[in-house]
Amino acid sequence: MSQLVWNDSYSVGVKAMDEQHQRLVALLNQLDNAMAEGKGRDALDKIFNDLVVYTQTHFKAEEALMAHHGYPDLDEHRQKHTAMTDQVLKLKQEAEETKVGVTLKLMNFLTAWLTKHIAGTDALYGKYLNGKGIN
Ligand SMILES: [Fe+2]
Repeated sequence: MSQLVWNDSYSVGVKAMDEQHQRLVALLNQLDNAMAEGKGRDALDKIFNDLVVYTQTHFKAEEALMAHHGYPDLDEHRQKHTAMTDQVLKLKQEAEETKVGVTLKLMNFLTAWLTKHIAGTDALYGKYLNGKGIN
């Protein structure tokens, strides 16, 4: 893997959410570093758990913001968050059962999902909120 570098294409135009997304990217990079350095399973599990917990906190914040401003596609967006969370928990459980811990597969899934989601689905609520003068 390689480090994710934040760029403007990831901005949703809403400062508070950009900051949370940047924190997610930082956690992904931390996990990538720990893997590259050959850190042990406990260290990887800890970062991964922080990432999962923060992702859930972030999803809640995003959904509350969308709800507060009457975003019309909230249900669809929420379903994507739920499906992603379910998938991560499934992969996490698999990792625990096979005793290999956090793997590149898990890390790649998270990276691909988050970057695509932020630049695609999240950009849509960003436009909506910007149109209401919120940024
Ligand atoms: Fe989202």
